[in-house]
Amino acid sequence: MSQRTLVLLKPDTVRRGLVGEVLGRFEAKGLSIVAMDLRTIDGEQADQHYAEHVERDFYPPLRAFVTSGPLVALVLEGDEAVEVVRALNGATDGRKAAPGTIRGDLSLSNRENLVHGSDSPESASREIKIWFPDLP
Ligand code: PPS
Repeated sequence: MSQRTLVLLKPDTVRRGLVGEVLGRFEAKGLSIVAMDLRTIDGEQADQHYAEHVERDFYPPLRAFVTSGPLVALVLEGDEAVEVVRALNGATDGRKAAPGTIRGDLSLSNRENLVHGSDSPESASREIKIWFPDLP
């Protein structure tokens, strides 16, 4: 079933010049880009996106990181896009993520782990509304 999911290429992806590499993996898989924008967010926007994590111990450094520079927000569409993107991303901690995944090949961190993908269709629709409220 065709789905949409919200993906962030986090500030480390932009800083390290890996936007093309990471985006290429999603495109090569067959997912379609239906919206894409380079932007720098403030703490309030980070809190909205990560609403379920704001009380967690790891949130302050995560908040500082995602607001530290430009990121690329995009909406990808395709068959089972939510699960497909999470499989391509790999496990949260880049040190433990399987080789062949984006994080497994390119990250050594659970904070600077390059990408975010919605964790369920419900999260995807909440997050897409936050990032791209005008997307039909
Ligand atoms: S959980 O507990 O399974 O819901 O959390 P998890 O999916 O592992 O992580 C949620 C997001 O928090 C980020 N994270 C961290 N950021 C900074 N520092 C530390 N220690 C840390 N641990 C986890 C993690 O990268 C996830 O970000 P997103 O953007 O959702 O992938």
